Amino acid sequence: MGKKAVEISNLDVSLMIQYLNEALAEEWLAYYQYWVGARLMEGPMRSEIEPELLLHATQELGHAELVVNRIIQLGGTPLLNPEQWKLFAKCDYEEPNDPYVEVILQQNLNGERCAIQRYQGLAALAESKDYATHQMAITILNDELEHEHDIEDWITDLERMKDDMRKMRL
Ligand SMILES: [Fe+2]
Ligand SMILES: [Fe+2]
Repeated sequence: MGKKAVEISNLDVSLMIQYLNEALAEEWLAYYQYWVGARLMEGPMRSEIEPELLLHATQELGHAELVVNRIIQLGGTPLLNPEQWKLFAKCDYEEPNDPYVEVILQQNLNGERCAIQRYQGLAALAESKDYATHQMAITILNDELEHEHDIEDWITDLERMKDDMRKMRL
């Protein structure tokens, strides 16, 4: 690992590594939450939403890769045991024990909102001090904002569909 990488980062590196490991744990849990939820999901628009959730899952895995690379560049050790994921993550893993599409979407939405806070916080912490982490946090943040927007749109569409059905029954 490059000494210069640490030297120029101009901040409390061990604290940054701690936060990055928290983010790493959150990404793995988000990946699994999407991945397993997409497979269990039942209800309207399932066939359209499922591939999109699997795409989000793949993107969460891509985030885990970006974060792990930065941890290593900073001289840290990424979490080595999945048992640490729940301990480090500040975002909840919500067990998808109700497969109804809106419940699954709401769980994923909660995760996205937590991720937005995570990367907003990381970007702010790294700003003007650690440009590489700052840039990485912004890249991921933009994806999470898009994920949140996608999910909100599906929830709106589902609500609309339910409203239309109610009107037809009247
Ligand atoms: Fe992510
Ligand atoms: Fe996301």
